Amino acid sequence: MLVFAKIKSIQQKIKSLPKGTSIGFVPTMGALHQGHISLVEKAKKENDIVVVSIFVNPTQFDREEDLVNYPKTIDSDLSLLKAVFCDLVFTPTAEEIYANNIQSANFNFDGLEHQMEGKFRQGHFDGVGTIVKRLFEIVTPTKAYFGEKDYQQLQIIRKMVHKSQLSVKIIPCDIFRETDGLAMSSRNTRLTNEHRNVAPFIYKTLKQAKIKFGTENALEVIKWVENEFKKEPLLELEYFEIADEETLLPIKTKNEKQKYRAFIAVFAGNIRLIDNISL
Ligand code: PAJ
Repeated sequence: MLVFAKIKSIQQKIKSLPKGTSIGFVPTMGALHQGHISLVEKAKKENDIVVVSIFVNPTQFDREEDLVNYPKTIDSDLSLLKAVFCDLVFTPTAEEIYANNIQSANFNFDGLEHQMEGKFRQGHFDGVGTIVKRLFEIVTPTKAYFGEKDYQQLQIIRKMVHKSQLSVKIIPCDIFRETDGLAMSSRNTRLTNEHRNVAPFIYKTLKQAKIKFGTENALEVIKWVENEFKKEPLLELEYFEIADEETLLPIKTKNEKQKYRAFIAVFAGNIRLIDNISL
């Protein structure tokens, strides 16, 4: 496994690969866990080589506190990647990516960016679009892997690829969970024991909401979820929405032909957790 911190050196390596080599790419912000690794394993199966980037992208954080406290575990990240035979790792600094202009471009994702995470995290998706586009230019992947854990991000990347007519194929990957159902996240390590113990309540509620959605209308399900969270003082519900899987617009009336997903964001202390489920 080779590790590169400079754009020029990884580009040189990629250019030296035999013509037609397929490149699977997994962009990450590090603090890797089995969720990330499941993407790398999928990429490994479907491509000749796998590139993983580790970069805590400053332009996608709306809270300075979240950026500063984002966990950094580079040594264990590299051992995990080595163990699954990752080929190339890209670990640039913010300077290498942004020079001295740490700013994002403005994107139009046809309204996807105004829903859910977009409402609660100002500028977040402009930051994500900026870094992912830049990384695609550097790595020139055949396929890129994104987790459904960040479902809105996945849809936004698909939109960007379509609108900018990029040649990369976007591959969605299932949400990887702890045995108690909590969606794996780099942020989970920052939970207090108390918060970690109640956090599985989030997925448990999503699963029950899914069952309820079979017989009840969306408004009833939403009210029910909001009430459930009132009973759990350690978790503060930020939003629970049922939306069309494609447009991410909130459901109005249930249409048998459409596919829906439920999306949730919850504060456990000052740690923000998100999850979703297909309905
Ligand atoms: P990060 O949060 O590190 O996640 C990297 C990738 O791993 C994303 O595609 C994310 O959806 C996926 N992932 C995280 N937890 C997962 C889980 N439990 N199951 C399945 N997939 C999971 O998402 C980002 O970084 C950044 O926004 C990035 C795309 C790298 C741009 O900076």
